[in-house]
Amino acid sequence: MTHRVYNFYAGPATLPFSVVQKASQAALDFNGLGLSILEISHRAKDFDHVIKEAQKDLKEIMGLTDDYHVLFLQGGASLQFHMVPLNLMMKGKPADYVNTGAWSKKAIKEAKLLGETRVVATSEDSNFSYIPKVLPVNDDASYLHITTNNTIFGTQFNHFPEKSENVPLIADMSSDMLCRRLKFTDFDMIYAGAQKNMGPSGTTIVILKDKLLQRDKELNPTLLRYKTHTDKDSLFNTPTVFSIYVVHLVLKWIIESGGLDGVEIMNRNKAGLLYGAIDEMKDFYKGTVTDKDSRSLMNATFRLPNEELEQKFVKEAETENMLGLKGHRSVGGIRASIYNAFPFEGVEKLVDFMKAFKAKA
Ligand SMILES: Cc1ncc(COP(=O)(O)O)c(C=O)c1O
Repeated sequence: MTHRVYNFYAGPATLPFSVVQKASQAALDFNGLGLSILEISHRAKDFDHVIKEAQKDLKEIMGLTDDYHVLFLQGGASLQFHMVPLNLMMKGKPADYVNTGAWSKKAIKEAKLLGETRVVATSEDSNFSYIPKVLPVNDDASYLHITTNNTIFGTQFNHFPEKSENVPLIADMSSDMLCRRLKFTDFDMIYAGAQKNMGPSGTTIVILKDKLLQRDKELNPTLLRYKTHTDKDSLFNTPTVFSIYVVHLVLKWIIESGGLDGVEIMNRNKAGLLYGAIDEMKDFYKGTVTDKDSRSLMNATFRLPNEELEQKFVKEAETENMLGLKGHRSVGGIRASIYNAFPFEGVEKLVDFMKAFKAKA
């Protein structure tokens, strides 16, 4: 039996164990070809099948129409912070952003390097403890950008800006991609690093409506143009073969788990149990998200009465095989990341631990 801990890290994060097993087998011999998935050419027929299948499965899972491209790029979501404005900002039309935390701020910083950028809603006034209720869509904007889940602050969008014909809606879904059913066709572009809900680090999934390619600017650096990648179907340069292979396995796992509906039920059960425990013991554990409607299904953040107890909590949890509970270094506290593949039993174990820890504190 392989030794497995409960991995609460925010990303790279826990993967379905069946996927890890299949990937390790493919690392030895892929499809009986006598070579490893780590060695195969990205032009090989068997890899072509993997990437096409992953694109097809992702579109099916998300209910995307034929006018969407699915790309596997590199540079993380962080490069998208730059590629989005570089490709999609239009002359004389500001780029609009909703600022809901550290990742939104990084996206805004990159956009500002390239042109006029407006913050149309923010929750910075209360240290990002909620998602703004009003999300204005300005007709004169190049696009509107949101970060659907705020990995560091533990908030998640449950309401979205109104759909507009003129203003493309763009979402960084890095930390909640495929965790629930949404009307994905309301978005013109979605991007996410794979390393939380979809696979190992290395590849960044970019989903893009074809009509956005009309904004392509030929003078931009070749590798930073979406058109370069749509023209070559993600194979303009050598892609992250292994990472894409694992994403393909994770997508199959999602389908076997009942698609987004199945995954969402699991996620709501896990988050319900954890937030229920936080609320029940609110004299000791204090959720950092002030608006319960804004609580993330993926990253639950909370504080203990003091930092000394928080450190003890993280250390003792480690001795019980629960790793990665320390909050992000910029905010402190505790963060339990419970992505799609995180098992329900792991949350049960955490809740039992929280009760015992409180009782003896
Ligand atoms: C919401 C969000 N956006 C962007 C990023 C940056 O992703 P990457 O490290 O893939 O550039 C992260 C990383 O944790 C994130 O959580």
